[in-house]
Amino acid sequence: MERTFIAIKPDGVQRGLAGEIISRFENKGFTLVGLKLMQVSKELAETHYAVHKERPFFAGLVEFITSGPVVAMVLEGDGVIAAARKLIGATNPLTAEPGTIRGDFGANIGRNIIHGSDAPETAQQEIALWFTEAELASWTPTL
Ligand code: CMP
Repeated sequence: MERTFIAIKPDGVQRGLAGEIISRFENKGFTLVGLKLMQVSKELAETHYAVHKERPFFAGLVEFITSGPVVAMVLEGDGVIAAARKLIGATNPLTAEPGTIRGDFGANIGRNIIHGSDAPETAQQEIALWFTEAELASWTPTL
């Protein structure tokens, strides 16, 4: 079954949006298999965003993601990677469609509320980076 990595960034947590955001994924029918609130280290932030390390916004991005608690989660379901990206919306909240998480709650690209893996390889890498095997629950909803 496909899995994806999602992080509610410090702006989403500080604005009290964690519950609403988790509900959107649950309501859609995806299964939570990992969930934790954590303070992100500089090392974890730099590794997670390594692909952007030459970009001018990299230092600010690392500073922001380490500035307060993040809610990290792993969701499971058929097609969850692409479907979660749809629920999240475009990277820039100013162009994200209303009804998406960023479209409804975000105000600028540097404060875009949430991160979601963009492809199967990155999902696998990000899940392994943020979670240990022991932190993930393998379960199938039966109700
Ligand atoms: P995310 O989906 O976490 O992946 C990379 C992040 O870099 C992105 O969301 C934005 O938060 C951030 N980002 C991308 N472009 C810019 C930009 N031009 N200025 C500031 N931050 C950016």
